Amino acid sequence: MMEKSADTSSPQKLSGQARFCNAPIGIFDSGFGGLTVLKELVRLLPNEDFIFVGDSKRCPYGPRDLDEVRGFVVEICDYLISRGCKMIVIACNTATAAGLAEAQRRFAIPIVGVVHPGSRAAAHMTRSRCVGVIATEGTISSGVYEDAIHGLDAGIKVTSVATPKFVEIAEEGLQLTDGGYGVREGLSVWSAYLPLAKECLQPILAAHVDTLVLGCTHFPLIQPLIAAAVGDEVQLVSSAEETAIEVHAILLRRGELARYEGRGRIELFTTADNTADFHDMATLVLGIMIESVYHLDLAAE
Ligand code: DGL
Repeated sequence: MMEKSADTSSPQKLSGQARFCNAPIGIFDSGFGGLTVLKELVRLLPNEDFIFVGDSKRCPYGPRDLDEVRGFVVEICDYLISRGCKMIVIACNTATAAGLAEAQRRFAIPIVGVVHPGSRAAAHMTRSRCVGVIATEGTISSGVYEDAIHGLDAGIKVTSVATPKFVEIAEEGLQLTDGGYGVREGLSVWSAYLPLAKECLQPILAAHVDTLVLGCTHFPLIQPLIAAAVGDEVQLVSSAEETAIEVHAILLRRGELARYEGRGRIELFTTADNTADFHDMATLVLGIMIESVYHLDLAAE
C-alpha cells in the first residue's frame, strides 16, 4: 500500500463534494490481469486512491457461464460500493462482457469496462479495416467486441479467436520468470511457447489483420510473445491505456477528480487464501513496492 505523501486538504474543512472527489476508484479482475489496467490508471491519475480486487480464487472466468460471472460482477461491485468508491472499473473483458450492463443498471456511480476503450483504439488505428480480437471463450462467445467495433465502423472486418491458453501462459510465465512482464528482450523466456502461440493465432494470421486487440487483461503480460507470433506488421492494442484515458475524462467532466496533491493510496485484495503470490505479482506488474495484499472473503466459490 502506498501512503499519501502530501495531503494538502484538511479533512475537517472538506465539503461533501470534495470528500466524494477524494473517494477511491474501485477496480477488479478475475485475477491479476487487471493489474495491467491499474498500472495505467496509477500512471495517469497518480493522486487518486484505488481499491483493487483480484478474484483469484474463482479465476479463470473465461470458461464459466456468463450468468455466473455476472453474479460475481454484482457481488464485487457491491463490495466496492460498500467501501465508498466513486467509480468502478471492470478491468476484465469477460466480466465486462458478462456484467457491465447489469452493473450499470443496478448501481448509481459510473462503471466502465475495458471492451469499449480497446475497440475504440482499434477502430481508430486500423488502416486495412481488418481487425483481430483474441480473448477468453466467454468474451468471444458474447460477441461484445464485434458489436463495439461495428458500433464505431460497420465496415471493419473483425476476426475473433478464443485463446484461453494465453491466460495459462501469462500466469505460468509470471511465476517462472524474473523478467517476463514488460521486458521485450526477455523473449527467450517466452520462446518455448512460440510454436503454440503461432498455432493459436493461425486464424488471425490467415485473416491478414493489421491490428490485434488484446481482449483479455492478462494478455499485455505476454505481449512480447504475442508480438513475436504475429510479426511487426500487426499493431497490438491493449485496452489498459485507453481505459485509463476514459476514466480520467469521465471524472474530469463530472468535476470528480481527487483534490489531493500527494500520491494516492493503493489497497490490494485477493480472494485467494494465499496473498503472497498476489503480492509478488502486483510488485512485478506495478513496478512499485507493495506493502500488503489483503485477503477478501466473498461468499460464493
Ligand atoms: N482477465 C480476464 C479477461 O480480461 C481473463 C482471465 C480469466 O479467464 O479469468 O477476460
